[in-house]
Amino acid sequence: MRLPVRSFFSYSPFCKMAKPRTINIGFIGLGIVGQGVWKHIQRNRAELEHRLGARLVLHSAAVRDPAKKRPVRISRSRLCSDPLAVATDPKLDIVCELMGGTTLAKKATLAALRCGKIVVSANKALLCQSGEKIFQAAKKGGGHFFFEASVAGGIPIIKVIREGLVANRFDLIYGILNGTCNYILTRMDCEGLTFDETIKEARRLGYVEADESLDLDGWDTAHKAVILGYLAHGKWVKLRQVPVEGIRRITLEDIGWARDLGYKIKLLGIVSRDAKNGKVFVRVQPTLISKTKILSHVDDVFNGISVTGDIVGTTVHIGRGAGQDATASAVISDITDAVSTLLGKTSPPPAEGDFGGKTSVIPGAELADLSDISGHYYIRLSVVDKPGVLAEVSAVMAKLGVSIASVIQPKATLGKKATLILTTHSSNEKIIQETCRNLKRLKSVLNAPFLLRIADFKD
Ligand code: HSE
Repeated sequence: MRLPVRSFFSYSPFCKMAKPRTINIGFIGLGIVGQGVWKHIQRNRAELEHRLGARLVLHSAAVRDPAKKRPVRISRSRLCSDPLAVATDPKLDIVCELMGGTTLAKKATLAALRCGKIVVSANKALLCQSGEKIFQAAKKGGGHFFFEASVAGGIPIIKVIREGLVANRFDLIYGILNGTCNYILTRMDCEGLTFDETIKEARRLGYVEADESLDLDGWDTAHKAVILGYLAHGKWVKLRQVPVEGIRRITLEDIGWARDLGYKIKLLGIVSRDAKNGKVFVRVQPTLISKTKILSHVDDVFNGISVTGDIVGTTVHIGRGAGQDATASAVISDITDAVSTLLGKTSPPPAEGDFGGKTSVIPGAELADLSDISGHYYIRLSVVDKPGVLAEVSAVMAKLGVSIASVIQPKATLGKKATLILTTHSSNEKIIQETCRNLKRLKSVLNAPFLLRIADFKD
């Protein structure tokens, strides 16, 4: 089956030369992203085929409802409803898994890899959950798994870490990895809208995942951070080992206080490695980030990632992290890498088995725990406004050796509720959590303390 599209080969001198190899591509899922990939390959076919020296055939797709009308032109005969049929079709060279989910998508991905195919995927949840199994299957079957679109949409961050910065060890990678949360925090900051008002708008614009918790509670960011952690350190950190906090408890008040203190609040995925002991830590947390940092100005649905290598220093990457076109751009980049691999031209350094399977070859790339992490903190307390409360709060902190850097108390009426905004000097994550537990026990503290981290990254 071939698309009736006039390609580069039909009018270039190549048509007189040896026939270029035909690469058959199958899709599992033809939703927003799949249709974008299909559309943009059609649109830029001539240039792509010229660069690759191969003919790209969008061969077939598995979709839930083959009879459904789609904005992309595709003949009904190319559609089926069985993902496994596409995954194992011997005519296909490349399978793009763009259906999402972790059940059927996993079966189809593993089946295609076992057949020795190249799988291109945007499925961060699946990769985070089953990365080890996927790369083992690729190795065993002789196939490959490419996943540029799984992190930060159109920003080629996988290539950056895997190829461009391959000479480096990565002491710190942190970034805004979820466009929806960034949109919400930006609108709260710039327009003074509450979280509830902003989320309604985000839903209306179709930004929020069907399972809202993925975005709002930080899980989508965690999936992406785990993938970055694997690329950088060869470790599949389990999701349960990642402290994950979302943005639901952030108020306009927090955003306002952060602004007054010279910060913006961003949800960050952070992969850090202690240069002294080599321990790696992956976490997701809303963070106060200084307005002097580039990432504090990455707003709306944009993503931004700061990558610090021991040789290169710090590089910063910004772009659209989601949406049809940005994600399609990343998927097509993987398709072109897959074609080069199939033609035996070049292939990206493998991610699979980079570090010899289960164990990292990076000396000491062990996981850190909370007691290895330290930083500066922002604590919001709701307290009774009466004499001695501030002394009680500071006594709890002093007992655990937490040094207060600043205190703000907006004017309150004596006897009523007051808000206290505290920032701390450098402290330890385990100790600060214990501090919050102890503060919560005070009668004068009315709600669970709200804790945010203040970024003290050098770059
Ligand atoms: N829900 C994700 C986001 C989509 O908002 O960034 C891209 O992974």
